[in-house]
Amino acid sequence: MSERTIPILDHRYASTVPRVPANQKAPVGLLADRLGRPLHDLRISITDRCNFRCTYCMPKDVFSAHYEFLRHAELLRFEEIDRLARIFVNLGVRKLRITGGEPLLRRGVEDLVAMLAKIRTPGGSPVELTMTTNGSILARKAQALAQAGLSRITVSLDALDDAVFRRMNDMDFPVRAVLDGIDAAQAAGLRPVKVNMVVQRGVNDDQILPMVDHFRSKGVVLRFIEFMDVGNTNHWRMDQVLPSSEVLARIAARHPMHALDPSVQGETAERWMLDDGSLEIGAISSVTHAFCRDCNRARLSMEGKLYLCLFATHGHDLRALLRGDAAQGIVAVSDENLAAAVAQVWGVREDRYSELRGTPAAEALRGERRVEMSYIGG
Ligand code: GTP
Ligand code: 5AD
Ligand code: SF4
Ligand code: SF4
Repeated sequence: MSERTIPILDHRYASTVPRVPANQKAPVGLLADRLGRPLHDLRISITDRCNFRCTYCMPKDVFSAHYEFLRHAELLRFEEIDRLARIFVNLGVRKLRITGGEPLLRRGVEDLVAMLAKIRTPGGSPVELTMTTNGSILARKAQALAQAGLSRITVSLDALDDAVFRRMNDMDFPVRAVLDGIDAAQAAGLRPVKVNMVVQRGVNDDQILPMVDHFRSKGVVLRFIEFMDVGNTNHWRMDQVLPSSEVLARIAARHPMHALDPSVQGETAERWMLDDGSLEIGAISSVTHAFCRDCNRARLSMEGKLYLCLFATHGHDLRALLRGDAAQGIVAVSDENLAAAVAQVWGVREDRYSELRGTPAAEALRGERRVEMSYIGG
């Protein structure tokens, strides 16, 4: 357990430019990695900035006024994101999730939604398009996002009590605005709205039951997330992890509930329903019950680096292939070549950090610089 803070001043995470296999045609059919896992979700982070400083994600001692966020020119343009997303959908991706940082802070985000909403699978079907947001400016944006073609939305909310919420976001941001954002999303037809609560023992675990009571009969799905050791800066401690089993036991003691079958393969959450049908509950247990075996997620950072595992120490620089990079002697490549490069990266994937957590192999990674949640968006 490390209390150590590694002061980072910029986002220069280790990365390499993937090799474009020689004479490679665009791969067809579903990809499988070394553990047989298909590529199904692409999580696209569009900004490394956030207007919150959640203590477990962007603690102020690191993400201070001196922190160097990426410059605009380094970010992928919307056209570049759209091009990559199309390539991923041709490779089997069926769900696109826009994340951040806080994605609603990126100017014109609804234009990106409109572009991505037009993407079709090779069979002509639409792709699920969703977003994870802190909800702070959602009340203003929900209508435009729905009109642009967003399918649904997930809002992070760690407490209902205003004082606890203000303390956790560390920007003195009131809970009312997020609740208004959730209402606006529902009114705009972004359904179901999912609410994600990261639970930290001794910090907000007294909010579990109030959250359940508040969201009953409102049509949202409420999900509890175990506090994870993502990145190097969030002061993670095992004794602050409240296992999902305990979260569920506390709820079940008040509200009888039953398990639901998974809705899709590779889902992060185990699902429950209160017996009176008033609330679906999800438990995301990446610490106590790892779900790496079915991990079908890839992550694209705002500057065009592809990461596979959330705990990755190494990215694959797709922007260099998209734009070319004279300094590295790299020329811009075609869609076919990009697809071949991505297929190759996925094909050799074998990471499964959460399953290995606590083993020497995973501990060895602790000293290395891992991506931060605010950079890769979960
Ligand atoms: P749905 O499609 O709505 O089920 O979304 P999702 O659960 O795939 O995405 P969401 O952004 O709601 O993820 C919820 C939380 O689960 C994230 O904030 C992370 O804490 C965690 N999570 C998501 N994907 C992974 C993953 O691949 N590995 C681990 N360890 N945690 C993940
Ligand atoms: N552990 C679990 N979830 C986290 N998130 C951010 N940091 C962590 C962490 N250390 C969640 C946020 C949000 C999503 C983007 O990731 O609460 O729901
Ligand atoms: Fe909080 Fe999400 Fe912002 Fe991180 S990215 S500081 S979890 S609101
Ligand atoms: Fe996937 Fe890595 Fe999360 Fe395991 S820890 S589920 S491999 S992202």
